[in-house]
Amino acid sequence: MGLDIEKLISEMTLEEKASLLSGADFWHTKAVERLGIPAVMVSDGPHGLRKQDEGGDHLGINDSIKAVCFPAASATAASFDRDLLTQIGEGIGDACQQENLSVILGPAVNIKRSPLCGRNFEYFSEDPFLAGELACALTRGVQSRDIGTSIKHFAANSQEHRRMSSDSVVDERTLREIYLPAFEAAVKRSKPWTVMCSYNKVNGEYASQNHWLLTELLRDEWGFDGLVVSDWGAVSDRVKGVAAGLDLEMPGTGGTNDARVAAAVREGTLSEEDVDKCVRRYLTMLDKFLSNRKPDTVWDKEAQHELAGKLAAECMVLLKNDGDVLPFKEEEKIAVIGKFAAQPRYQGGGSSHINSFKVESLLDALAGSGQITYAQGYDTDTEEPDEALIAEAAAAAAKADKAVIIAGLPDSFESEGYDRTHMRMPRCQDELIRRVAAANPDTVVVLYNGSPVEMPWIGSVKGVIEAYLGGQAVGAATKAVLWGDVCPSGRLPESFPYQLEDNPSFLTYGGEGNTAVYAEGVFVGYRYYDTKKMDVLFPFGYGLSYTDFAYDNLSLGSESMDDTGLLTVSVDVTNTGSRPGKEVVQLYVAPPECSVRRPVRELKGFEKIALEPGEKKRVTFRLDKRAFAYWHTGIHDWFVEDGSYRIQIGKSSRDIVLEADVLVKGTTVLPAIEVTPDSIFMDLQKDPRAMAALEPLISGMMQTFSGGEDEGTGAAAEAVSEDMTMAMLRYMPLRGIVSFGGQLSYDELKELADKINKM
Ligand code: BGC
Repeated sequence: MGLDIEKLISEMTLEEKASLLSGADFWHTKAVERLGIPAVMVSDGPHGLRKQDEGGDHLGINDSIKAVCFPAASATAASFDRDLLTQIGEGIGDACQQENLSVILGPAVNIKRSPLCGRNFEYFSEDPFLAGELACALTRGVQSRDIGTSIKHFAANSQEHRRMSSDSVVDERTLREIYLPAFEAAVKRSKPWTVMCSYNKVNGEYASQNHWLLTELLRDEWGFDGLVVSDWGAVSDRVKGVAAGLDLEMPGTGGTNDARVAAAVREGTLSEEDVDKCVRRYLTMLDKFLSNRKPDTVWDKEAQHELAGKLAAECMVLLKNDGDVLPFKEEEKIAVIGKFAAQPRYQGGGSSHINSFKVESLLDALAGSGQITYAQGYDTDTEEPDEALIAEAAAAAAKADKAVIIAGLPDSFESEGYDRTHMRMPRCQDELIRRVAAANPDTVVVLYNGSPVEMPWIGSVKGVIEAYLGGQAVGAATKAVLWGDVCPSGRLPESFPYQLEDNPSFLTYGGEGNTAVYAEGVFVGYRYYDTKKMDVLFPFGYGLSYTDFAYDNLSLGSESMDDTGLLTVSVDVTNTGSRPGKEVVQLYVAPPECSVRRPVRELKGFEKIALEPGEKKRVTFRLDKRAFAYWHTGIHDWFVEDGSYRIQIGKSSRDIVLEADVLVKGTTVLPAIEVTPDSIFMDLQKDPRAMAALEPLISGMMQTFSGGEDEGTGAAAEAVSEDMTMAMLRYMPLRGIVSFGGQLSYDELKELADKINKM
C-alpha cells in the first residue's frame, strides 16, 4: 500500500508542506502525524554506514553504530571493476534495510582536479568517464536493495578550501566535459533516488539555489525525477532554493526556514506550486522506501568483513616490482616495518568516517606466521624521524631476506574539511624508507593513503604498492597481494606527478578569496600531462601484475561511420604469464585536430577481465557519439567534428599497445555564421554560401595583395606565393575589401553581408 501522494498534498496546510522541506534534526526528515506521514532517517556513506544514534554531526566527530568499513572510493576506483562497486552497494543496501535507513549519502563523484583536495580519498578519479561508470555501479547495487543513494556533491566541488563559500568558476565546455559527466551518467543510467547539491557556488550562484543546475540541467535536460537534498548546511537563501528546485534542506533550521518558505508563499514571492513540487518529490522518495521495506534483511557483518578484504585486494596497484621482488615466498624471512602494519590507516576523516566493528591489520593477518619480524619504524603524531625506531627497523631489515614498509599518510594529513598544502609524506617516513632500503636492497613499500604522494625514495626501493585506503580488512588484503595469493590488478585512477608543481591546477587551485577559477579548463590530470608530453611518476591507468598480458587482433566494426552509429571495437587479450590474473583493458579515443583544443586522448571504455595462464579472451567495446564529441559552446550541445579518430588500446594512458583509425562524420549541422564586415576570411571560408557570394571580391583583393604578376619576369609571384598570400589573408576582416580592394564602399559591403545572411 503506497502513499496517495496527491491526496496528501491536497490535504496539507501550507505550514505542513513547508515543514517537509527540511530535516527534523541531523538525520531525520519530519513526520506529519495528522496525515500518517512518518519521518525517515538517512545516513553517511558512502563506503559503509555511519548511523549516529545520538549526538549528530556532519564531520564524523561523534560516534556511530558499529559497522563495516569497505575500501574508500579512491581504492575502489583503482579496481576499475564495476562489479566490485555493485557488490559493495548491495552490502550497504542490506545494512540500510536492517538499520531502517532510507538513503545512504553517496557515492561522491567529484573530479580530482588537484592532488591537494582533502576529500580525494572519498572521490573516484580525475577522469569523468571512470567516475561515472563506477558511480552507476555502486548506485545500482544499493538501489537493488530498495534503498536510495545520494550522488554528491553536485557540482564542481573539487576543493575543501573555503568549501562553504568558494565560487567555482568553470567555463561551459569544461563543466560539460569534466565536472558534470559523472553525475550525468549516474542520473541518466542508474537513476539515483536523490542528488546532493554541494556547498560551493557554481559560476556565481550557490549550488543550493542554482536554478540552472538543479532544474534546467538536472531535471529538464537530464530527466532527473528524484529528490534534491542539500549538503549539510549548504543552504543560504531557502526561498530561492525552493524556486531553484532544492527539495529538502538538511539538517533542519529549527523551523525558521520553513516559516520563511510559508511566508514567501503568502507574500506572493514564491509560488505554492514550487513548494508542492518539492513536497511531491519528497513524498515519492518516502513512498519508494516505505513500500519496499525489508526489515528482516540480514546484515552479516562478518561476511561483509570477509568481502571487504577480498575486494580491497582487487584495488591494490602494483607500481614497481624490480627483479620480481614480489610476491614474497613462503620460505623468505620478511621484516614487516611501520606503524600502519599494526594500526592501519584504512579510511579518511570526516563525514564518511565509519565506526568499524573490527579492524584487521597486516600483523593480525600474519599472526602465527613464523618468518616475520616487526619494527614500528615511525610514529604518526609527528613528522620528526625517531632515530631509535629507525635504527631498530634498519637492523630488522638487515637481518631479513626482504623488508616491507607499510607507510602512507596519517589522518591529520588529509581529511574532509581542509586541503593538503603539499604532496609529501611525513619526513619520518621518507627517512625510514631511505634507511631501510640502504640496509636491505630488497625493500618494498606499501602505501596507505588517500591521494598521490611524492616518492623521493622511488629509486632506492624495489617494490611499491599503492593500496589507498583499503577499508577495515586491509591487512588481509595486503597479505594476500604481498605473498601472491592474489595477483594485483588495480590501476591508477589518477596520475601521480613527480611533484605538486607539475599539476595543471597548481597556479590556481584553491582560488583567490572566494573565487576559484578552474583555469586549466578541460586539461585535468592525464588530459594535461599526456597532451604536454610531460613525464609523470606514474600515469593514469598504470599498474603492474605478477603475470603478463599480450594484446592482438584489434578490429573495428567499420572503417567509417557517422555520429548516429555505434562503433564496435574488439581486441584479444591473452595471459602469457604463469599465474591467473586480471587485466584492465583500456580504450582511449584520440581526436584529429579540431576547431577547439582537445586532449590528445580520453578514456572512453574499460573492461576488467580474469584470465588463467595461457587463456585468451576477446573484449568488445561499443562507442557512440559521445566518445568522439566535444561540447560546442556555439550550439550548447555535443558536437562531432568530421575527421579520422584514432582508437587506442592501452595498458595506461601512456602505454598504448594497439591502435586503429576510424573516419567519423558528424551529422549536426552548425548554424551558418553571421556575416558582418568584421568577419574574418578564415571563418568565412567554412561557409560555402558566403564564399560563393564573396569569391569575386576576395580574388580581387588577393590580386592587390600579391601585387599582381610582373608580366615580364613573374617576380612578385615568386616573392609571395599564393599560399603565403592566403596564409596572411586568413585573419583579414571582410572590410579589408573596402580598404585594400577598393571595389565597393563600406555601405555596399554591409548590404552584401546582410543579403548573404538572409540566403
Ligand atoms: C558532507 C557530506 C555528508 C554530510 C552529512 C557534509 O559535511 O559534505 O558529504 O554527506 O556532511 O554528514
